[in-house]
Amino acid sequence: MAEVPSARMFVPCEPVWQMLVRAAGHTVQYSACVLGRGGECQPDDTFGRVFPSAAPGHVVSVGEREDWRGYLTAFHAHRPGVTERVFARLESDPYEWVTAPLRELGSGLVVDLACGSAPTRPWLRECRWVGVDGSAEELAAAAVAGRGPLVRARADALPVTTGAVGAVCAVMALPLLTPLPVVLDEIRRVLRPGGPLVALVPARLGLDPRGLFAWLRALRAAGVAAPRWPNPRAREHLGGVLGRAGFEVLDSERRVFSFPLESPEDAALLLQSLYDPARPPSRPTDPHVAATVAESVRALPMPLRRVVARPQARVPSHVVSP
Ligand SMILES: C[S@@+](CC[C@H](N)C(=O)[O-])C[C@H]1O[C@@H](n2cnc3c(N)ncnc32)[C@H](O)[C@@H]1O
Repeated sequence: MAEVPSARMFVPCEPVWQMLVRAAGHTVQYSACVLGRGGECQPDDTFGRVFPSAAPGHVVSVGEREDWRGYLTAFHAHRPGVTERVFARLESDPYEWVTAPLRELGSGLVVDLACGSAPTRPWLRECRWVGVDGSAEELAAAAVAGRGPLVRARADALPVTTGAVGAVCAVMALPLLTPLPVVLDEIRRVLRPGGPLVALVPARLGLDPRGLFAWLRALRAAGVAAPRWPNPRAREHLGGVLGRAGFEVLDSERRVFSFPLESPEDAALLLQSLYDPARPPSRPTDPHVAATVAESVRALPMPLRRVVARPQARVPSHVVSP
């Protein structure tokens, strides 16, 4: 993984409120500063998000936008199928939910973008389906489970003919696929007219103080920061992001699932699934930490949002391909 530069470099451009927050004993975690542009720090959506810290008062990490690619490659190489294993512990199956609009589709080809271990495949058995992912290890896990056909490719350069695809599904993928504008361009390019994009993303907790408290307790017990994503707006404001990229949102629904923390194994699985570029993905979870987390809370809410969209017939003039 690329070495993370020192946080001190950013102090001159740090807004005052962040300094105040740090003074109050929280961690400021810079996740997506662009370095080296004439000494400027260019904040984007994730700049200066605040997390409760296991070590109050410390700036724990700074990541360049470019760090994410290497981090995600290493993460999924070490933990193939981890998303599927986490979802398998929920009380109902999010893959059944996200694939429901696709099961109604006629004969078109479904591309599962960033398919990972291909957990949508069993729900789309009757469909023409192809899974695309950039990780050899994730695709190997899919193949071992007898799922296919599979293609190893990057989401920003799909080896698919223009207009050849009936639907695209992207499960737990848009908040991490970079560069997102190019990926969304690719999705619009490969979809046939009227073909839907069905996306599932982690949603906000919303007004759920108990849920928030449970997450804070679990993260504090684990000594880790809140999970982060390269494209946080594609998580919290997916409708707006898609609208600006030339999509029309047809449906947007939020559901809250519950992840049971009944054992240290549950806690270890959850911790393994969280993106945290400050920790090398090769590092195994400490069993004592997992046990402490499992003792701290019984269950954690897992809010998810399913969005169904389709490319607008006329792309607005402000949508510019990079
Ligand atoms: C959170 S996992 C979700 C996997 C699967 N959709 C699921 O629900 O289990 C994200 C997946 O995106 C893949 N990925 C990340 N960046 C990618 C890229 N630029 N192109 C293709 N796949 C990518 C990873 O290899 C990983 O399998």
